[in-house]
Formats: sequence, structure tokens, C-alpha cells
Amino acid sequence: MAELGKVKARIEKLKAQINHHNYRYYVLDSPEISDAEYDELMRELKGLEEKYPQFLTSDSPTQRVGAKPVEAFGVVEHPLPLLSLGNAFSEEELIAWYNRISKLVGGQLSFVGEHKIDGLAVALTYVNRRLTIGATRGDGFHGEDITQNLRTIGSLPLSVPKEAPPRFEVRGEVFLPKVGFDKLNKERAAEGLPLFANPRNAAAGSARQLDPRVTARRPLDIYIYMLGYAEGRPTPSSHWETMEYLGSLGFKVNPNNRKLATIEQVSHFYDSWRERREDLPYEADGIVVKVDSLDLQGRLGDIGHEPRWAIAYKFPAIQGTTRLKKIEISVGRTGTLNPYAVLEPVAVGGVTIRKAALHNEDDIRRKDIREGDIVIIQRAGEVIPEIVAPVKGKRRGREKEFRLLEKIYDSKKKRPACPECGAEVVKAEGEVMYYCSNAACPAQIQERLEHFVSRGGMDIRGIGERLSAALFEQGLVRDVSDLYYLKEKDLLKLEGMAEKSVGNILGAIEKSKKTPLGRVIFALGIRHVGGEMAEILANEFSSLDELAQASAEKLIAITTVGPKIAESVTAFFKQKENRRIIKRLEKAGVRLKAEKIEAREIPLAGQEFVITGRLENFSRQQAEAQIRALGGSTKSDVTRQTDYLVVGAEPGSKLAKAKALGIKQISEEELLRLLEQKT
Ligand code: IVH
Repeated sequence: MAELGKVKARIEKLKAQINHHNYRYYVLDSPEISDAEYDELMRELKGLEEKYPQFLTSDSPTQRVGAKPVEAFGVVEHPLPLLSLGNAFSEEELIAWYNRISKLVGGQLSFVGEHKIDGLAVALTYVNRRLTIGATRGDGFHGEDITQNLRTIGSLPLSVPKEAPPRFEVRGEVFLPKVGFDKLNKERAAEGLPLFANPRNAAAGSARQLDPRVTARRPLDIYIYMLGYAEGRPTPSSHWETMEYLGSLGFKVNPNNRKLATIEQVSHFYDSWRERREDLPYEADGIVVKVDSLDLQGRLGDIGHEPRWAIAYKFPAIQGTTRLKKIEISVGRTGTLNPYAVLEPVAVGGVTIRKAALHNEDDIRRKDIREGDIVIIQRAGEVIPEIVAPVKGKRRGREKEFRLLEKIYDSKKKRPACPECGAEVVKAEGEVMYYCSNAACPAQIQERLEHFVSRGGMDIRGIGERLSAALFEQGLVRDVSDLYYLKEKDLLKLEGMAEKSVGNILGAIEKSKKTPLGRVIFALGIRHVGGEMAEILANEFSSLDELAQASAEKLIAITTVGPKIAESVTAFFKQKENRRIIKRLEKAGVRLKAEKIEAREIPLAGQEFVITGRLENFSRQQAEAQIRALGGSTKSDVTRQTDYLVVGAEPGSKLAKAKALGIKQISEEELLRLLEQKT
């Protein structure tokens, strides 16, 4: 017992330490220890919790990513509706709002100015110090329960200090910083997936993933901008002090918020940020002005779905107009033929734009974009500008509708041809993209090579766009496996290569042989398999060989894998050429196995069981012991964390609770089968 007491104390200590370092890192942006030291603390805590599952709690920092996918989100009723905001688009509109409300309350008003971050509004309920529900705004009255996903956000506290009210709700904006947004879209572009139009869509898409592991890979962040309600303890009487108070409880509050004494100061706050919005690490589409006094907020009240005491003062959109000269086509690494717009260069928000992505032919047609059109372009995030719409009023009748197949029609061959290699072009059923059918297409090979060595892949530093092109043109590298057979003398032959850089490159190639399996799978460039999916596959299979053998049925059985991905993975490994490349990688010593095979030894890891009613084949203690022996945990009460309720004869009230919470119920027989299957 003394032993267990010590374990529990150590677990508590580790949790407190990790929470502290999370706060330093994610909220204050000022870490005190190295990543390696942090990882060590996490590893120790995980180890102890696995060994002593009775001490695992839902607010443990290890639980930020542990949860399993759900079929659908539950519905949460908001005790207080989540309102939206009225807009002001000009200074006159701001002043008109100010005049209206000052007349209503009479006297001096002071404000708080905040950025209006373009993300996803959420409401977070804390009960007895713990985060219990995190929900989307939904229609304002009912939202979706996305607690498990929100737990993955490092800057969101899973528990709060004991001084906090016993029950309260805070609200805030979940967002994807611009850097994360650009990275995600680049990855998606490389995979031939539709791009997110703006950081808000990306944040919403990420936070509403059915698989929390996917959410966990997206660098989401959150700023809390309001206290919904609080019970059992007094809270401050102004918005500004409330924000300070929430900051003291560990919440991340935007440091750019300002107390503004007059409406002139509000105008000034707006002007200064309108000019500097580009410098912000997140996308903001305006400022939110809030009356500071909560008493006055109450007196002003709401009108319809909007509070009178706050207004969104919008920035002008970062848009411009220019002529779309022509539409050209590039070939991606998986052979996709990607149309893009060549524009008359134009400066938008201080950046000169020459090209814009056009996702696919259907998209071009839907927006009715024609070559020669004057188009409105918009910058979302940092890199990829998009075309919002053509200005139809400016058409002169000479604009040309775009037809991809006509564009690439080869009159000699009398068929459409890949613009790079002339091979035949194909389109898979139900897909919007056309592909070059030739796996040996030089454009594809070069793109694949660049993808293979990129940071998210094998991370071979020193081989960039230019060197991969040279290696290919000189015939030194025909496929990615050739990289591992390069000799010093081959590289020295290339223009501008000195002994030192050759040494560095060969060193980087050697080092890449130890790349973790998930990144190797990503690097292979299987169609539709991006970084996230590659990680998921690496977690499910212990080696590349095992993945290569997997049938489409087996792949589809993995929650996040749909038929399209399953089909593309099996097709990839069926190709002789790909099998040959993998063999050569293996022969060169590239590690194609997962580092640990933990998952096999503890097949029920992270799964929580509760038993109700009488069992026929074994005592409850025996059943629990068997579950724990396989790494699962057992609890006496059903909570949101429960994965399975085992229902024996004459079940108790736990069954009703499990039903209410939508927790999976299994019979004793199903439990037996599960235990057998896993041993
Ligand atoms: S206060 C009743 N503050 O803007 C006041 N909202 O249309 C409710 N938003 O969906 C919101 N930044 O998610 C507030 N600093 C901020 C905000 C903010 C972004 C979003 C919010 C809401 C929308 C309002």
C-alpha cells in the first residue's frame, strides 16, 4: 500500500510539473526546459499510468491525444446562448453605434479592443476544476461536443487552480496560426486534396475531426475572450479585469487586447492594426470593441442574436483585381495535372502576386473563370492567393472558357497528352483531377524526388529543387532508391559541388536511413496519403512490409481510412516498380519497421472498461484482471472517458448512464471474444 501511495504521489507530482511546463510553453511562450527534458517527464508519466491505470485521470496531460475516434459528435445545449456580433465597416458606422449606446446608458463609456480572430468559437465548461465539456457554437443554442479534440490544444488548461469557481464556462476562439495553415495547405496540395480556403475553415475542419489524433497533429491554438458564466465564487465587474482574472487561472488571453478609454482611442487601435495585420501570426478580419463595464453590458442587453455592448469593426479584405492572362498546367508528384492562373502582376497587401492556384477544372467552371477575365484575387494566409470571382461586367467577349483536355490536346497524337512527357491522360471515376498515366514522367519523378527528401519526409538536407533536377538530368537518380547508391565521385561530377558539400549530402542520406516509419510512408508519396494519414498507418502496422500486405478490407477497418485511401495504398504496393524501389531501399539499410511494437504487447492500451451486472464465466475481479493484463484499464463508474460498458445479468444504473452518454455496450460473450482475439 505504501508502495502504491508513493506511485500516486509521483504521478501527481509529474502531472503538476508537466502542466506547469505546458503553460510556460503554450500560454506564456517562454519554456523553462528543453523538449527532451519535457519528453522524459511525459514518458515517465505515461509509463506509470500504463502500469497503474487506477491512477489515470481525464485531466492528465497524457490524455490530450489519447482518445479514440468517434462516429459522430454529441449535441450540447448551451446554458447561455452564444451570440454573434453586429458589424461596422467604416468609422461612421462605429460612431453611429457609439452614439446609439451612449444615449441608452448616458454618460461616459470605456472599452476593450481585441482582435477579431478568424477561427472557430467554442464554449468550455469546467466543473470542480476540470475541463468537462468543450463545444462548438453551432446555432448558438446547441453545439457539438468536441471535448476530446479540444483537449489536444496545448494552450488549453485541462484543469484549473482550486481558487477557480466550482462551475464556470469560458468562451474563446480556436484558430490555426498562419504558419500552420500554410503548411497544412501545402501538404494538401501535394496530396491532391482540396485546399482550405482560409484559416477559419482549416481551424474548423481540424477541430471537428472525428479522430482526435488528426486534430492533435494540427497546431491549433486558442484565445479566451469571454467568461460565459461562473457559479459559487465572485468574479470581477469589468471585462478587462475578467480577462486578467482568467489569465491568472491559466487561460491564454490575447496580449494584444487593450483598455481604451474613449471612442477616439478605439479608432486609433483599429487604424494601427489595420496597417499591421499582416504582421500578426494569426488571421484577424477586424477588431471587436466591447463595453468594459459588465454592469453597463447588462443594461445594454441584446438585440436579436447580437449584444448591443459589442461590435465587430471589420478590416477591408486583402483583395485586388487584375487580368488573368492564361491558365497553365503543372504536373504534380502523383501525376495530377494542376491548373494554375498566370496573372498580370499585381500588388495585394504589399505582396506582388503573379500566380494563383486553380484547384481543378470543376472549380474553374463553377466560378466561371475564363482566360482573359479581370478577376478579384484574395490572399488568404501567406502564400497561396486565390481567385474569388471574375468581374463579369468587364468582359469584352474575347475571354476563353477553360477546357483542360482541349488545352493539352496533342494534334499529332490526336489525343490529350501530358504537357511534360506526352503520355496519355486519365481520370479516375468520381474524381475531379486528371492524371498523367506515365509513372516515369520526368516531371513526376522530379516532384517525387523533391517530396521524398523534404522535411516532412526523409529530411535529407542539401538536396533541394536544383540538385534533384541535376541528379535526374545526369541520369544519376532515376527513382528515390538511387539516392542510397550514390557515390562520392558521382556527386563530384556535378557542377558546383565541392568535397565538403558532397560529404554533407552523403552524411544526410546516411542519417535518413533511420527516419521513423510514418515519415518513410509519407515520403513514398502514395496518392492521398499525407503526413497525418502516414502516421496513422505507421501506428497500425509495425512495418512497411505489413502495410504492403494489407488488404483493402483491412485498411478500411481503420477508422480514418476511407475506400479512396485504401484503394490507393493497395494499388501503390501492387505496382512492380514500387515493390522494386522498396526492396532496394531495404537493401540499402533504410529502416522500414516501426521503432517500438508496444501496441502489440498492450493491445487494450488506453481503453477503459466498466462492468455492470453479474458475469457467468468469471468473477468480476477475474475479468478486470484480464483486461488490465492486456493494458486496458477498469473503473467502477461510467464517465465520458469510458470506452466499453460490459453488461452482465441484471445490470444496474450504469447501463442507463452509459446509454445517456452514448457509450458502447458489449455483452460478456463479446468481452470474451475481445480478450481471446487480443491474446
Ligand atoms: S466576443 C457576444 N471576441 O466572432 C460576443 N468574438 O460574430 C461574442 N470572435 O463567432 C463574441 N474574436 O467566435 C468575441 N475577441 C473576440 C473575438 C470574437 C473572434 C468571433 C466569435 C464569434 C464571432 C462573432
